[in-house]
Amino acid sequence: MNLQIVSTTPFLDQKPGTSGLRKSVPDFQQPHYLENFIQAIFDSLEGCEGQTLVVGGDGRYYNRQAIQIILKMAAANGIGKIIVGQGGILSTPATSCLIRKYQTFGGIILSASHNPGGPEGDFGVKYNIGNGGPAPEKVTEAIYARTKTITEYKILAAGDINLDRPGSFKLGTMDVEVMDSVAPYSALMAELFDFDRIREFIAAGNFRLCVDSMHAVTGPYAKAIFETQLGAPAGTVINGVPLEDFGQGHPDPNLVYAHELVEILFGEDAPDFGAASDGDGDRNMILGRHFFVTPSDSLAVLTANATLVPGYRGGLAGVARSMPTSAAVDRVAAKLGIDCYETPTGWKFFGNLLDAGKATLCGEESFGTGSNHVREKDGLWAVLFWLNLLAVTGKSVEQLVAEHWQTYGRNFYSRHDYEEVPSEPANELMAQLQVQLATLPGQTLGGYTVDYADNFSYTDPVDGSVSKNQGVRIGFTDGSRIVFRLSGTGTKGATLRVYLESYEPDPAKHGEDTQVALGDLIALADQVAKIKEFTGRDRPTVIT
Ligand code: G1P
Ligand code: ZN
Repeated sequence: MNLQIVSTTPFLDQKPGTSGLRKSVPDFQQPHYLENFIQAIFDSLEGCEGQTLVVGGDGRYYNRQAIQIILKMAAANGIGKIIVGQGGILSTPATSCLIRKYQTFGGIILSASHNPGGPEGDFGVKYNIGNGGPAPEKVTEAIYARTKTITEYKILAAGDINLDRPGSFKLGTMDVEVMDSVAPYSALMAELFDFDRIREFIAAGNFRLCVDSMHAVTGPYAKAIFETQLGAPAGTVINGVPLEDFGQGHPDPNLVYAHELVEILFGEDAPDFGAASDGDGDRNMILGRHFFVTPSDSLAVLTANATLVPGYRGGLAGVARSMPTSAAVDRVAAKLGIDCYETPTGWKFFGNLLDAGKATLCGEESFGTGSNHVREKDGLWAVLFWLNLLAVTGKSVEQLVAEHWQTYGRNFYSRHDYEEVPSEPANELMAQLQVQLATLPGQTLGGYTVDYADNFSYTDPVDGSVSKNQGVRIGFTDGSRIVFRLSGTGTKGATLRVYLESYEPDPAKHGEDTQVALGDLIALADQVAKIKEFTGRDRPTVIT
């Protein structure tokens, strides 16, 4: 075995963000950059020698090269076995599924999620722990601390492993198993959802669907599940071949970036149901014919109807949503008499609640929905959940949502993003908001009276850990809310996210356009945070 110990010096910018370490591909291609971070992971994982890890990625540019490096480093660091997806492909939820199914020590996911890929695009590395979920902050902080002191890394001098066919290999003393990327995941989906019922529903011929994989990782999964197993016609899945640059697109399933699907669903002779997933398959967008379901509403509708689906027939232990996600699901939880948890942004905060059996479904406004079946959000899971509901109820997407609003009222909701703003003014904007917090409560602004104003802090109910500074919240006495936070996943400058929400109980007003309904709050957000002044922008770059 030809073990090499390579001297290196720390990079000081390897702090994991909301979802692992994300940088541009050229950053990752700097000599030793990836190696340093991977070595820091191995150095931080106590007891990983002899253990099994899952490794896979979303197929973006540099995925294959990175996997070969990681395999050789794992072998040199005494890892016992690596399970790797065929072709290096594993969606994020499928990785979580494999970690749990084979009870591995953890896993390494190579993805920058919905960020563009290609030689000038983004890349990322995320470590997941043995429950299948993203490493909690104490682990990512240990990894970061290690990146700052690293002096050497270990790697095996060996040839590349052929990832293109399932099979078993040896790398030094380490076992490598190249595994079918799709089968274990699709088997789990078939346990949770009524595939027979969905198959019959599609076969009956009165229902058409279109699933957009955005040239990203879910293509093989979606084709196997929707076309092969559920019998939807060939061509149901569009953009279904994972490409290294995602066809030069931005694989983020929202109204702006998934425009091809949006045009189909809002066009003439539109299908009944449309869905898209992101780069690594953990996000989803749900559309009906000429109808968009906000992710916050999607979580609420799934919660309200969960017992119609086999996997959740026994009811839900509780639900959880990230703080900026609308309170639509809170109303459902209250009616069902189950707990509803409000966590900071990022899926990692749901892990403890899911492990402790306190929450069954979880969701984020950022097109993320999931459950206790894995420890990541899961795009295709959400699509199947909706399909199962449509098949059982025979209702349209719009009908299900409109009836939901009639029962619970409507939480109008929108997020305005100001992308790639210079970091300094963005930090100043947040700082001057922070200064105002103490004096805002009780003030009347643009007809709204401030009920509370704070910077969200979360105490994990399971392990007591505290996460501070998770976003500035300004709540008004009528239940409306504005939230400001800076993105933790961007790679260029800063991204300001402004989350706007109001509550409308009157069904006669539920048809109003969201941006119109939120117009006063949008103006107020600018007035309070001086967005135009600090960002120099007169409008957001993305509205979802
Ligand atoms: C964004 C989303 C957040 C999500 C994360 C990873 O993080 O807002 O909800 O968990 O991507 O997909 P942000 O860039 O806001 O830190
Ligand atoms: Zn993602």
